[in-house]
Amino acid sequence: MKYKNYFRKTSLKQKGDGDFFLNQVLLKKPKIFLEVGVFHGVTARNVCELLYSIHYDNFKYIGLDLFEENDENKSEIIPNTNFSNPFKKIYFRYIKRQNPYSLEAVKDLLKKFKNNIDLVKGNSNNVLKKIDMSKIDYVFLDGGHDYETVKNDLENCMLVVKNNGTILCDDYNLSYAPGVKKAIDEFVKKNNFKCEILLNSRFAKIEQ
Ligand SMILES: C[S@@+](CC[C@H](N)C(=O)[O-])C[C@H]1O[C@@H](n2cnc3c(N)ncnc32)[C@H](O)[C@@H]1O
Repeated sequence: MKYKNYFRKTSLKQKGDGDFFLNQVLLKKPKIFLEVGVFHGVTARNVCELLYSIHYDNFKYIGLDLFEENDENKSEIIPNTNFSNPFKKIYFRYIKRQNPYSLEAVKDLLKKFKNNIDLVKGNSNNVLKKIDMSKIDYVFLDGGHDYETVKNDLENCMLVVKNNGTILCDDYNLSYAPGVKKAIDEFVKKNNFKCEILLNSRFAKIEQ
């Protein structure tokens, strides 16, 4: 399956990276998928299309994001949500009348799968503790990029790995976010998990 951009921004924009990601998901055919860091929902839509093609209606996608910049979350890295492409600016401001980085806009992008999705607005440091991890079999970790947040997210998703699931972490080796690598390396070592570094150190795949 080819990764599509749906006229929005995504962290998997580099040619081939999205296809590589989808092939990773396809290898495991998960039924309950959690994405931490949804942003404009492009990966969410691609994952839903893929899981629908495998399981028809028998899958679930859970997506979690701050979905807004405010004083409480100003320490988190939120990618620039504005478009430089004037057509995209006009499309969202005057035609869709939506902020693509909002729960409502992502819900709209995923409306085809409205019975299969659960979108949660909040900080992963708090929200993940309330999610039942026992049924989730795949996590795409692409939310906060500072050390403490990644450490917390990994600890909160530990059960997924223990139940033979997968955590695929994005941005493993980013020069401007070294906390991601540090938190992953420590987590893997402490729990004696397997960690495969993929696609020129972009992804870290953690499994038992
Ligand atoms: C790199 S983007 C995610 C891109 C998306 N996964 C994709 O493939 O297009 C990171 C997202 O994480 C969110 N984020 C950052 N810190 C967070 C936190 N502590 N809890 C929840 N979401 C967070 C940001 O709002 C942003 O939308």
